[in-house]
Amino acid sequence: VLAGKCPFGGDRIGGAHTSPPTLQHWYPNRLRVEQLHRDGPRANPLGDDFDYRAAFETIDLDALKAEIKAFLTSSVDWWPSDYGNYGPQMIRMAWHSAGTYRIADGRGGAGEAMQRFAPIDSWWDNGNTDKSRRLIWPIKQKYGAALSWADLIVLTGNCALEIMGFPTYGFAGGRQDAWEADDATYWGPEFVDMTTVKSFDEMVNRDKRWRGQNGDPDYDLEQPLAATHQSLIYVNPEGPYASGDPEASARDIRVAFTRMAMNDEETVALIAGGHAFGKSHGMVKADRIGAPPEMAPIEQMGLGWHNPEGTGAGEFTMTNGIEGSWTPDPTRWDNSYLENLFKFEWEQTRSPAGALQWTPVDKSAPHTPDAHIEGKTHPLMMMTSDIALKVDPVYRDICQRFLSDFDYFTLQFSKAWYKLTHRDMGPKERYLGKERTIEDDLLWQDPIPPVDHLLIDAQDIAALKDRILGLGHSVSDLAFTAFSAASTFRHSDKRGGANGARIALAPQKDWAINARAMPVVEDLKRIAGDFGALASGGKKVSLADLIVLAGCAAVERAAAETGSSVTVPFVPGRMDTDDARTDADSFEWLRPVVDGFRNYVDPAFDEVNTGDLSPEQLFLDRAALLSLSAPEWVVLTGGLRALGANWDGSRDGVFTDRVGVLTNDFFRVLTSMDYEWKKADEAGTRFALVARDGGEARFGATRCDLIIGANSQLRAIAEIYASANGQARFVRDFVKVWDKVMMLDRYDVHG
Ligand code: HEM
Repeated sequence: VLAGKCPFGGDRIGGAHTSPPTLQHWYPNRLRVEQLHRDGPRANPLGDDFDYRAAFETIDLDALKAEIKAFLTSSVDWWPSDYGNYGPQMIRMAWHSAGTYRIADGRGGAGEAMQRFAPIDSWWDNGNTDKSRRLIWPIKQKYGAALSWADLIVLTGNCALEIMGFPTYGFAGGRQDAWEADDATYWGPEFVDMTTVKSFDEMVNRDKRWRGQNGDPDYDLEQPLAATHQSLIYVNPEGPYASGDPEASARDIRVAFTRMAMNDEETVALIAGGHAFGKSHGMVKADRIGAPPEMAPIEQMGLGWHNPEGTGAGEFTMTNGIEGSWTPDPTRWDNSYLENLFKFEWEQTRSPAGALQWTPVDKSAPHTPDAHIEGKTHPLMMMTSDIALKVDPVYRDICQRFLSDFDYFTLQFSKAWYKLTHRDMGPKERYLGKERTIEDDLLWQDPIPPVDHLLIDAQDIAALKDRILGLGHSVSDLAFTAFSAASTFRHSDKRGGANGARIALAPQKDWAINARAMPVVEDLKRIAGDFGALASGGKKVSLADLIVLAGCAAVERAAAETGSSVTVPFVPGRMDTDDARTDADSFEWLRPVVDGFRNYVDPAFDEVNTGDLSPEQLFLDRAALLSLSAPEWVVLTGGLRALGANWDGSRDGVFTDRVGVLTNDFFRVLTSMDYEWKKADEAGTRFALVARDGGEARFGATRCDLIIGANSQLRAIAEIYASANGQARFVRDFVKVWDKVMMLDRYDVHG
């Protein structure tokens, strides 16, 4: 029938798979549950069974580093190296790869080489990092899957520092690449079109990531962001909104770097250290530069920012817009960045591209050589963000210390660089390669002492479970405690989890959401002490293990009450840590704002939330941080409700008369058409169940309960567990996800 006709037919061709409008266009407020399945096994060309750890360990690290270093001092025609040295641009690439990290949700960072994908690959701040990655492609190509982009990017940064005379602190491999764009992380409002902004004030008013008015004491950057401007990784080098104001720049730097988990000294070390190398590029006006990689013409093959001037590279390079170098010898590690910053007065000037920058007032100040043209020199350059280090009193004092003690500065920069590039790797068990420095306990690594005793065996486990169940705490309390300890884990930066028993330490022991667990924790401490005192041969049980074991005992008991006999897997080997090894401030960021699993919404949430965010969105966020799939999320929630594990002991969502019994009642009530739900408050945060036949309202619920029945994707899963034959599957799947959550931080077991 179709012979001779265009198969699309009609007078307009369209409608291919994924053509807009898509769901997101039609229903912008829908909960994007499918994001939980981002970067799933089907996106990974290496397959599920590829063992990156084993593959990486086959690499001869010395040989690899020698190859990288040889490349760094070479030059290719399509992108010639400045000063005959690619080192500085590779340091910037590595820094930008890691610098997206933010402590609030642990997302960003160097861990998955997200710099390769949208939106990050096309951020204005990542200009020409596409060239840096292409330059090292031959090395990546040679090692293939055994060397992830994420590891190569950081290692190349280290090699660059080393060839310029800087002693690095160490390098650990083990980062596994992502295989698709991150379409879920909130990077802040990106709707401000920079090209249409006419004034600083207009920009401030339109960039909605700042709360309050500039100058107000409570003027602050929206959480969980760390970048102070859209499309940037940290701050605008020209000062906030290109104002050229060093004081305001210092404020932005402090906000951005604190959110990046860096203190003032680390911040100064990083900026002053990084800008000892290389140069800024600003030879061409920004409006002549082509589109970023994601929007570039197809023939550019993934490269963006086409520069039509001259060769478009070398002496014609345009990246950020500022032009020049900070030091007279930009390929050598020395203290001349700080020396010159303080020795000279600096005045504002403009680059050829028109960007605001600073140059020494004293024209006899040292010059820096041109990066490409023999014999040509230029005055030194500082950015507004560099002058900020001189005008902020705290930064200035740190600079003075670094100025007077170069070795101290060198050590602080090398430690800060190590932290920056390894921050999101999680426990040291994940570190690979001979240059990993695992002897030192660095506070940001959330150290837990190594196991130093004989572990409990099957017989001990059985006896301890009996003892725990005999304590007199309810199954609900025991399960709640174990879940509270384990569920701080975040897949994003691999922090948190039950190991270390940090639930017994500040700040976690003081969180309102954990109050219910504290009596259990106290009793378990006693059991751990008694066991250690009585056991022979140096056998001990950690509090961390006991907390998880309490959860196992509770879940087994709750399942047994339904007639199913299950054993919840338990692997001993956790250890307890202490206050000295716990950075309390940094753990405070792990406190949930909303935790639908325990039916918790921080009272402050409603105060600061401008209505953009619903509790269920943050519930989804927690499920994502626990690396749960949608089915795992649903079954875990239903099980926790059956167990009665709400933080405040409330009955919200506990749709059962048999609390503490592992029934599928939650799903049966949620999907039943015998009832309807009515708002119980004006804001629609709580709901009451009404029997359609006019009976009494029996249960209450929150948004985090109802979403499981209201969202179409979650409801489809809930129906499976609500089915007549759903009970057995429910118990089986719940136990599986329970074990997964308990084991999330056990890199000593699963690598
Ligand atoms: C270059 C800004 C912190 C390392 C640059 C450039 C800008 C910039 C605008 C020029 C890019 C170009 O046009 O090629 C900033 C700002 C910072 C900051 C605003 C924070 C306030 C850092 C840190 C490091 C670093 C923490 C590393 C530890 C470098 C290096 C270059 C560079 C090595 C030279 C790149 C090259 O030669 O191609 N920075 N930077 N920067 N930055 Fe930063």
